[in-house]
Amino acid sequence: MDGITDAAMRALMGELGGFSYAVSEFLRVSVAVLPAKVFRREVPELLSGARTPTGLPVQVQILGGDPDRMAASALAAVRAGANAIDINFGCPAPTVNRNDGGASLLRTPCRIRDVVRAVREAVPTEVPVSAKLRLGWESTDEILVNAPMAVEGGANWLTLHARTRMQSYRPPVDWAMVGRVRQMVQVPVVANGDIWNLEDFRRCREVTGCQHFMIGRAALANPRLPGQIARELGLNSASQLDSADWESLFRRLVKWCDQSPHTVLKLKQWIKLAHLHGDFPWFDRLKTATTLDEFFDLLSEQFLAKVG
Ligand SMILES: Cc1cc2nc3c(=O)[nH]c(=O)nc-3n(C[C@H](O)[C@H](O)[C@H](O)COP(=O)(O)O)c2cc1C
Repeated sequence: MDGITDAAMRALMGELGGFSYAVSEFLRVSVAVLPAKVFRREVPELLSGARTPTGLPVQVQILGGDPDRMAASALAAVRAGANAIDINFGCPAPTVNRNDGGASLLRTPCRIRDVVRAVREAVPTEVPVSAKLRLGWESTDEILVNAPMAVEGGANWLTLHARTRMQSYRPPVDWAMVGRVRQMVQVPVVANGDIWNLEDFRRCREVTGCQHFMIGRAALANPRLPGQIARELGLNSASQLDSADWESLFRRLVKWCDQSPHTVLKLKQWIKLAHLHGDFPWFDRLKTATTLDEFFDLLSEQFLAKVG
């Protein structure tokens, strides 16, 4: 997630366990091909086998509408160390969409095929190329055309965020449509959108029939969830987290950060998501922190007030 799941957060998620892989924040291919050094800077895991220091595989996500520049950028990513490329056809940000990227391509299905095909042909066959799509620009049934187009272009799997662009992040998600697509295409489909707790996960699995799931915001709002889901799927074990132990989680993230003055902003982004979508109780107090020390002092005060 752009601005949130940077290398430090990915390292933490690898440490906590539960995920099989992470996808980088999107890297936008606009008027120029992205050089390898940009990929190494934005996805430093590429320097160590495309894995976090905690062992979680990381895929590189690119976004853009020009097939040639996307293909050349994907190749540069592979030369920089990427071993999987994901293409973003879901981003709803107006600046991105105005500049021919993300969800705007959902309005021209052939262009989805052309971008995927150009990237697929540019990178070695052993490097999987996947596509992340919303269900449509305006209407969810647009995916019935767009998904086969991405597959025709050579996508090895699809990740479907079960909303349209016009919905932005508003409910409801349409998991049933994800299930229709899963039955229609010959590649794996990863279900995504509004899996906030184990109950949601179970319903999503039932409705979509999918075996693969992408968890976004809930990984921060409810950090126990990825591990719970992994266990339910019979996958790798995750560290047992105590949902109340936010301080230990924050300290574990800080350990992976560069300790710049921006680190406190990362923590504030995290607590905002946890406040909006989880059960984090101290957002209003902690959002005033301007330094890490202040953040942790305020956190201990709140915690002591609660237990005292
Ligand atoms: C702040 C923010 C940034 C995001 N950035 C990206 C991104 O860079 N690439 C991407 O594929 N999806 C991005 N997404 C979308 C999420 O990956 C996911 O599809 C969406 O949040 C729905 O899943 P969730 O309900 O599990 O969060 C972003 C979402 C948010 C809220």
